[in-house]
Amino acid sequence: MSKQFDVVVIGGGPGGYIAAIRAAQLGFSTACIDAWTNEKGGPAPGGTCTNVGCIPSKALLQSSEHYEHAGHAFADHGINVSGLALDVSKMLARKNTIVKQNNDGILYLFKKNKVTFFHGHGSFVKAVDAGYEIKVAGKAEETITGKHIVVATGSNARGLPGAAFDEELILSNDGALKIGEVPKKLGVIGAGVIGLEMGSVWRRCGSEVTVLEALPTFLGAVDEQIAKEAHKLFTKQGLNINLGVKIGEIVKGKKDVTVNYTDNAGAEHKAVFDKLIISIGRTPNTNGLSADAVGLQLDERGFIAVDGDCKTNLPNVWAVGDVVRGPMLAHKAEEEGVAVAERIAGQHGHVNFGTIPWVIYTSPEIAWVGRTEQQLKADGVAYKAGTFPFMANGRARALGDTSGMVKFLADATTDEILGVHIVGPMASELISEAVVAMEFRASSEDIARICHAHPSLSEATKEAALAVDKRSLNF
Ligand code: FAD
Ligand code: NAI
Repeated sequence: MSKQFDVVVIGGGPGGYIAAIRAAQLGFSTACIDAWTNEKGGPAPGGTCTNVGCIPSKALLQSSEHYEHAGHAFADHGINVSGLALDVSKMLARKNTIVKQNNDGILYLFKKNKVTFFHGHGSFVKAVDAGYEIKVAGKAEETITGKHIVVATGSNARGLPGAAFDEELILSNDGALKIGEVPKKLGVIGAGVIGLEMGSVWRRCGSEVTVLEALPTFLGAVDEQIAKEAHKLFTKQGLNINLGVKIGEIVKGKKDVTVNYTDNAGAEHKAVFDKLIISIGRTPNTNGLSADAVGLQLDERGFIAVDGDCKTNLPNVWAVGDVVRGPMLAHKAEEEGVAVAERIAGQHGHVNFGTIPWVIYTSPEIAWVGRTEQQLKADGVAYKAGTFPFMANGRARALGDTSGMVKFLADATTDEILGVHIVGPMASELISEAVVAMEFRASSEDIARICHAHPSLSEATKEAALAVDKRSLNF
């Protein structure tokens, strides 16, 4: 007889492993199946985020930032560095150690919470009286049964036709995190989140980085004023960002890649790169799930079709994270995982899509929550705006990082905060205050009247809130 569980989660990324832990905490017998395999053939739970996404990219961003600071910024502090050298293999080894610590941490959490972990590939077999039979193809093959199934199979990098990823010359996020020596010329197709983060890593390490973006506007989803400021700063750093390009043929040589493209003025170019990263978005992982075997419905873009509560078309089958609609973010996947486990338990799990923060971990960082100025205009909402530059913040000056600003957008009548947008140092941490404020439907006046520690970067947040009422004190 197959092993029987209350909840079987397919996929052990942030959506899946968190759903499994929460389900187990709520008293359900829970299994989590994850296929990711490390170099030794062992399990590596944590999904894209842990293995080839959030965690390794932030490790490399940190290393490369230290390298850049040692090369330039330290001199301003009177710290003279000589004999500066970058050991890329050590930088990669550090990143791998951090990834492994996270993999091991998740295996420990499974044990602690009594989640049964299966290392292998999960697929639907059939619906049965007790729920659904799921085949697990690992070192051995077995079938388990779950009363409830949570699909959290995540996403994969989208390729360009005629330019298959070989992870040597033409790289997805996977290969981009494993480049063994600093490429002299690095090409990046797509000026989105991955393109800017990975482009920044290798530029700081010494690559000449050319970013080729199809859209005529830079970071179209970001508040226009913030995106313009970021574009100016990245260009000054040396990222060569080309907007409105049309990618033509991509030709792989023995040691390089040639990208033919037309620029926004119609001129033809032939750019030769040592490595090419293609970061043009991601596609949901539904292949191999045998969705057809049980009639699990996909939407027109190949995502698993779900309602606002992550319910699929099948009773007791749920789906969360990158494999369903909405932003492809680890924290969104996690929130959906918790909400689904709580709904299975008859509770009222909830994800507020209006207060999911976004962060781009460049330097300076870009972070935002809520609506942009252009969205408010399009929605016909009357609003007030307040901005405060880090240049006028004492802590930013002491840090030696005064680029960027904080921007508040508040309802013209009620003063409720509608959006907060930051480009600047530690924006990833500063945005949390805005998320909390918006979750509690605070006004900009609420933030303006709260005591913030001095000297701190968060004073820029308070000052931007004050600026909504045209009464900032330090600018
Ligand atoms: P995934 O993390 O993709 O996990 C899915 C898991 O399911 C994988 O382990 C996969 O092997 C497994 N799987 C798939 N099919 C099966 C099957 N049939 N059987 C068993 N297992 C299966 N987001 C952020 O919020 N912050 C960041 O800083 C950030 N940085 C990123 C950097 C990069 C380079 C990339 C690529 C992404 C980044 N993201 C970031 C996005 C984030 O990684 C994803 O949103 C997140 O991982 C989605 O979680 P998930 O659980 O839905 O899917
Ligand atoms: P993206 O959607 O952020 O950016 C893709 C870019 O490629 C867009 O600007 C798009 O216009 C452009 N593009 C699309 N087709 C193109 C073409 N043919 N030629 C040139 N440009 C083209 O996708 P990306 O960077 O691949 O990242 C995928 C997702 O991973 C992100 O949307 C995000 O959800 C997640 N992620 C999150 C991070 C974070 O939270 N810090 C970090 C990295 C990834």
